[in-house]
Amino acid sequence: MAYQATAYFNFNGILNQYDKIGVVLKSNRTNNRKNIEEKPMTEENGKYVSDSASQMQQIVLPNDTNILGNLLGGKVMEWIDMVGAMVAYRHSRRPIVTASMERLDFHHPIKLGNIVILKAELTYVGRTSMEVSVSVFSENPRTGENLRTSSATLTFVALDDQGKPTSVPALLLKTEEEKRRFEEAEQRRIQRAAHKRN
Ligand SMILES: CC(C)(COP(=O)(O)OP(=O)(O)OC[C@H]1O[C@@H](n2cnc3c(N)ncnc32)[C@H](O)[C@@H]1OP(=O)(O)O)[C@@H](O)C(=O)NCCC(=O)NCCS
Repeated sequence: MAYQATAYFNFNGILNQYDKIGVVLKSNRTNNRKNIEEKPMTEENGKYVSDSASQMQQIVLPNDTNILGNLLGGKVMEWIDMVGAMVAYRHSRRPIVTASMERLDFHHPIKLGNIVILKAELTYVGRTSMEVSVSVFSENPRTGENLRTSSATLTFVALDDQGKPTSVPALLLKTEEEKRRFEEAEQRRIQRAAHKRN
């Protein structure tokens, strides 16, 4: 019960932040306020980050590599999209589409024969969109050495039966880390909206 109150409080805090920054996101703001008024965050209509967090593991086979024996970047992107979609699908229980994939860095090559572990969880939920953070790790199965090789942020949108964006359950925030990531995602959303306007 304490968690519900925290999530509710946090949401209002973020809305107040808009006032401080002076950024106009009128439609989103109205939607969010509407969500709060019509749909207070409770365990009945909201879901925790852990409810949809997902993992995927793959082994790097010869067909997935370039001439240096490293995993192809495009294959990593495909797997990131797939595990991110699992998270959004689990949260919304609706068909979803990828709206965007933000910056993706490859810190280390992933070698043929290594095991790739992809971990994904929600960072933010809007009215119809869901932001998912994906971390990619490479494990050498002989030595057990484990390296974080990539991370990416994706946004998915849930669709109704007519293929139009449709509302999704609210995100219930439990930990300080989840709250921090939610607020950071809000900032990215503000920046995206500003970028779109320019
Ligand atoms: C994603 C898509 C459904 C958005 O449709 P739209 O008519 O722009 O919808 P809206 O403007 O009502 O936006 C719906 C939500 O998506 C979010 N959104 C739209 N474009 C976005 C983008 N490029 N990045 C992040 N979020 C985005 C909006 O912020 C909004 O979120 P909210 O409801 O939580 O506030 C539509 O652009 C689409 O179908 N794109 C193709 C998706 C696809 O085929 N993906 C496969 C890979 S090619």
